[in-house]
Amino acid sequence: MIKVLLVGSGGREHAIATALKRNEEVKLYAAMFNKNPGIKRLCEGYIIEKDIKKIAEYAKNISVDFVIVGPEDPLVHGIANELEKFDIPCVGPKKEVAIIEGEKIFARRLMKKYNIPGIVEFKEFDNYEEAEKYLRSYNKEFAIKPSGLTGGKGVKVFGDHFKTIEEALDYIRQIIERKIGGGRFLIEEKIIGEEFSFQVFTDGKNFVEMPIVQDYKRALEGDKGWNTGGMGSYSCENHSLPFLEERDIETAREIVKKTLEALYKETGIHYKGILYAQCMADKYGTRLIEFNCRFGDPEAMNVLPILESDFVEICYKIIEGNLSKKHVKFKNLATCCKYVAPIGYGLNPPKPFEVTIDEEGIKREGALLFYASVNEENGKIFTTTSRTVALVGIGENLEIAEKIAENSTKYVKGEKLYHRRDIGRNIEEKIKRMKELRKRI
Ligand code: AMP
Ligand code: GLY
Repeated sequence: MIKVLLVGSGGREHAIATALKRNEEVKLYAAMFNKNPGIKRLCEGYIIEKDIKKIAEYAKNISVDFVIVGPEDPLVHGIANELEKFDIPCVGPKKEVAIIEGEKIFARRLMKKYNIPGIVEFKEFDNYEEAEKYLRSYNKEFAIKPSGLTGGKGVKVFGDHFKTIEEALDYIRQIIERKIGGGRFLIEEKIIGEEFSFQVFTDGKNFVEMPIVQDYKRALEGDKGWNTGGMGSYSCENHSLPFLEERDIETAREIVKKTLEALYKETGIHYKGILYAQCMADKYGTRLIEFNCRFGDPEAMNVLPILESDFVEICYKIIEGNLSKKHVKFKNLATCCKYVAPIGYGLNPPKPFEVTIDEEGIKREGALLFYASVNEENGKIFTTTSRTVALVGIGENLEIAEKIAENSTKYVKGEKLYHRRDIGRNIEEKIKRMKELRKRI
């Protein structure tokens, strides 16, 4: 018997729970933030708790063999450190290295100091006057990024989220006054291209890549509207993306390798868990947009269902520090994940409302269902302010996977729900845009 405690309760964590439970020896427990019915069903026991000290106590009391953490928040605040006090291993980095996601300023400084490829032009600020002076003389388009955690919703980009310097300055004022992401921020050059999620399993010395995924961050179809945590994602049967060249992936690999080395040099601590480099292929090559200290959400739902190897063994190899390629094999299948969310998610979501989910219908379509930020009360399911459920199609190619995911969305019903139909479609346009971009140099 292997006792595992899972921390988190979104779609990503339901996918982690499902992957762990493929190993029949696993007895699963969960520390959730909302009552996710999908995870609950797979568990022997659970608590609803956010406090990392209390979660560590729970892990000790039920004597788990290891803990795996889904979201960034507990990691950045030191859950792995709390668990270490009780000698409980954690799949998820300690706070000294999880800072790679927790402080975007730290990440950029590290890249600069260690000459890590993919860096962008950046400058850090904590005061309005200096930022204003810099922006007024900056002659390129830019992005403004709060340094600390903002749930993926803090970055604003010129041309997309604001059209004038005055609007940008207004946002800077808000960051400082409301201490968004801690109140410190970066102004970076705006990169134009196609984003891709490069996720690896790592024990701090060795790393093994997962299939590359593309996430759709914008709330609305056609990549319009505000940024969200991600409205859906896809991956292809060859584990690359159609607009990427081999050298783009080679650079992403180099970024991850050098970053793991740099983190160890800086802290003397091995980074153990998942490192996810959010990259952008632009006209020159690959640029690093940000690091994440965990699986992507939704990206975990693309990769974990096609993992052929035993996920529990991978977790043990991460903990023991002897991870190698032979432990990790993914099926050569395409995947498409579509999130169904409350209208206004990420901006102005409605109050909780009931949703009905026809699980049998979804099964008949051949799709996988992952529950996300919902609460189960007396057998009924209610939304929260975040994403509701994810539907994943898997097939020999993306067209098949996308159809399965899309067709299954009709089995999720609720008054104020929506999803992006364009996820996993119009890939030809992306390829064309990338070709155009690279032709010009
Ligand atoms: P992040 O939270 O850093 O992943 O940023 C959220 C989104 O903002 C990214 O997925 C990009 O779409 C966009 N973004 C962040 N930094 C830049 C940048 N330097 N140039 C262009 N877009 C960016
Ligand atoms: N899908 C974006 C993220 O997990 O940060």
